[in-house]
Formats: sequence, C-alpha cells, structure tokens
Amino acid sequence: MTLPSPPMSLLAELTHRCPLSCPYCSNPLELERKAAELDTATWTAVLEQAAELGVLQVHFSGGEPMARPDLVELVSVARRLNLYSNLITSGVLLDEPKLEVLDRAGLDHIQLSFQDVTEAGAERIGGLKGAQARKVAAARLIRASGIPMTLNFVVHRENVARIPEMFALARELGAGRVEIAHTQYYGWGLKNRDALLPSREQLEESTRAVEAERAKGGLSIDYVTPDYHADRPKPCMGGWGQRFVNVTPSGRVLPCHAAEIIPDVSFPNVKDVTLSEIWNISPLFNMFRGTDWMPEPCRSCERKERDWGGCRCQALALTGNAANTDPVCSLSPFHNLVEQAGSQKTEFVYRGR
Ligand code: FES
Repeated sequence: MTLPSPPMSLLAELTHRCPLSCPYCSNPLELERKAAELDTATWTAVLEQAAELGVLQVHFSGGEPMARPDLVELVSVARRLNLYSNLITSGVLLDEPKLEVLDRAGLDHIQLSFQDVTEAGAERIGGLKGAQARKVAAARLIRASGIPMTLNFVVHRENVARIPEMFALARELGAGRVEIAHTQYYGWGLKNRDALLPSREQLEESTRAVEAERAKGGLSIDYVTPDYHADRPKPCMGGWGQRFVNVTPSGRVLPCHAAEIIPDVSFPNVKDVTLSEIWNISPLFNMFRGTDWMPEPCRSCERKERDWGGCRCQALALTGNAANTDPVCSLSPFHNLVEQAGSQKTEFVYRGR
C-alpha cells in the first residue's frame, strides 16, 4: 500500500475560547468547552507525533491561543522538535512580558488579526471595546521584539472600501507581510454570509487596491478573494488530506477546520490513535483524497489536480452532499446557489451577544 506524502502543516487549535465574537468566525456552531480541552502532555505528544510524521510548521490557533496558560511551553516543545512555529492571535491578550517569554521560547512568527482600521468598525465586528488600540499596541511590541509579523485583515462588505487604509496602517506598524482575506463562509460565518458578502463591484475595487499597493513595493501581500465571485473553485486546504492536518481543542483530527459537519464518518481523536495512523489510513482522511472520489464534471476536468474539486465543506453546506462538485464552479449543477447568494441584509447574528 502506498502511503500519502506527509502533511506540511499542523493547525493546533488549542482552545475555542476567545474574547472576540466576530460574525464571520469559521469555528463550528457548537464550540468545545474548556473542560474538554487537551492537556499540556497530550498536546506535547501531538507535536512529537507531528514532527515524526514529517510536519514542518505548527500554527497555534484557536479561538485565542493566548488564553492557554501553557502556550509558552508548547512553543518551546515546537522549537525542540525543529517545527517552525506561528502564533495566530487577535493580540488583545498580548503584553510585553508575555511576548518576551514567547520570544525566549523560540516563537518564529506571529500573525496578528485586525477586524478593521477604525475603532467603530473593529468593535462592530469583534464586540470588544478598546480592542483596536490593544491590537495596535500589540503590533508595536511585536515589531520592537523583532519577531517576524504578518497583519491579517478580514474584509467584507462593510470594510472593503478601507483596504488602502489597511495597507497604510501595516506600513506604519512595520509589518513585513499583510494578508487581505475576504471572508470565507464556514461554521458561524455562513450564518452571516448575506450580511457580509461584498458585491462584484466591491470585489473588483478591492483587487485594484491590492494591485496598486503591490506596485509600490516594500510589502509582501497575500490576497484571498471570496470564491463566491469566482467561476472555478479554490484548491481548499491544498487538497483534502494532502497538506494540512487540524487538531481541535478536544483532540479530534480533521483534514480542515470545518470538516466536523461531514456526516456518517467517525472523527478520530489523538487520545485514541496516533497522528500517523490517522493521516495515513483513517477513513476520514481518505474520503476525498486524490481524485478517485470525484463525480462528473470534476472527474473529467483538466483542472482536477489543480483545484482538487474545491471545498468539500462548502459543497456539503450548500448542496447537502460533501461529494458534490463545489457549487462555486460554474460547471456545477448547483452553481445557481452561489449566484443567488447575497442581499442587502445588514444585521449580524453574533455568538453569545
Ligand atoms: Fe473543509 Fe474546504 S473547509 S474542505
């Protein structure tokens, strides 16, 4: 039996706890409780198994990973194992002493998320008073520490016109890299799709703003477009079970952060099985790996090894069957579901507010 190539990255979702409550949160509708979270010894074993399997990078994520008191210890473990470590954080819990210990533990990179450039816009999304000022302060501390930093701005209908100001803020804060990421509609985010989805004109305007900034040079820019306005799907996660492995706060192992909605399959847990066994032979990871599972028109499509059939979770959420062609594709019989999305809805549904 030929085993698949090892994953490149581990997304370690240390906790679902988070001080923010963004309407586009891609975590599941039901969040995992603190009492169910893996302990430090189990996360250490997960990192060791990941390194043994061939993983190169670990992304400490959440929720807000800084809510975990053992984050520094886990960063040290990653350093000991030669895993490149990235902290994905909102920054609102970061201060100088905490940053110093993370730096000493060997943290390689920080991805700091921003909800907007204006205080009002940031508070409308994140729901935390004073969050914007705390994030700007966090960015200055990170810059002073010398840890490489990416600023991540999630954009949607309400803030997409402010992309030029986002770049200006990133340059002022000394970020080496900026990610402008249009909202993706998974988990809780799908509930708010119709209030968040930008128009095609707004998308084109945002693309022009990104191109203009790229032309200035001096800033690396990643740009993630909303696939609802595309006519071919994105290669979600670089292909199911091909590059990424996610571990949820309670230890479930998934090919992507949204996969828990897939019905009629058991979700393996690091408390019961090794990461390598899960990656190589579990039914979940082999369910949509490669191209054998594909229906038409994917099966005979010349792009099938480029987009890998798009996103299984989106196919499930929109068509009721994860094995259908991603409805983003204009060749999908369900493409009308994507074309009809969007409205002038302006109210968000927030978690727990
Ligand atoms: Fe699960 Fe795209 S988010 S396959």
